[in-house]
Amino acid sequence: MPDLLRKSRRVVGTVNGQATSDGAGVQLSRVIGQPALPDLDPFLLLDAFGSDDPGAYIAGFPSHPHRGFETVTYMLAGRVRHRDNAGNEGLLGPGSVQWMTAGRGIVHSEMPEQENGLLSGFQLWVNLPARDKMMAPRYQEFSASEIPRIVVAPGVKAGLIAGGIGDIQGPVRSGATDAFYADFALEAGSVAEIDLPVAHNAFVYVYRGTLLVGQEATPIAAGSLGVLSLGASLRLDATEDAHALVVAGAPLREPVVRYGPFVMNTEAEIHQAARDYQSGRL
Ligand code: FE2
Repeated sequence: MPDLLRKSRRVVGTVNGQATSDGAGVQLSRVIGQPALPDLDPFLLLDAFGSDDPGAYIAGFPSHPHRGFETVTYMLAGRVRHRDNAGNEGLLGPGSVQWMTAGRGIVHSEMPEQENGLLSGFQLWVNLPARDKMMAPRYQEFSASEIPRIVVAPGVKAGLIAGGIGDIQGPVRSGATDAFYADFALEAGSVAEIDLPVAHNAFVYVYRGTLLVGQEATPIAAGSLGVLSLGASLRLDATEDAHALVVAGAPLREPVVRYGPFVMNTEAEIHQAARDYQSGRL
């Protein structure tokens, strides 16, 4: 550990998003949760969606369940309405984030609230530790104006959703995974060096431009993710204007058994989740 405390992170693997569709036919790029990167403990899935063709998104995600993890939706453009079986409802607009802890279970829909124009954003799945998988569901929802925008270095801004940069904390509280989630915008020629919790697993997902990432300045282009080594800090170097998510979380190191929208620790718990859903107890 003493060594790690001084180490600047580097890219140990690069993954390209895989085109797929989910929900009722939403076209998206699956970055985590595909053969090249099945998971990155505690992260189970990362989808990027972005299209100005309504045919690619209009069918949305009609009613479906979740149990045992958290879904984090971060919108760049467009609007999505969510409704659940407990009567909760809300509209996610540009720059907003919804951190939903499904816990013991929720049945909800996530539907575009627009018939044309650009819809883009991300959904990340964060695992819950065994002791929290059956907790009561919880929402943390923040509009763009509630997410601090920090000048990290000349030409570098970050929207801070979870975790800390310097003395500033993002609004989301994430429990055992102690997540860091920030959206970086870098101007050409800018450089940032940020601190990350030293033993958290972490990745950089570039969604516009190309960035040189980590100690070895590994180029990561838009649509690709860099898996990072452990270490206390991360260097981002922009030779052109670029936008990227930087996400980190404490690994849970527990068995993961996943079946579609259920992520538990054992097969028996998955069967129980399916039975509970079928009998309307989610
Ligand atoms: Fe969902």
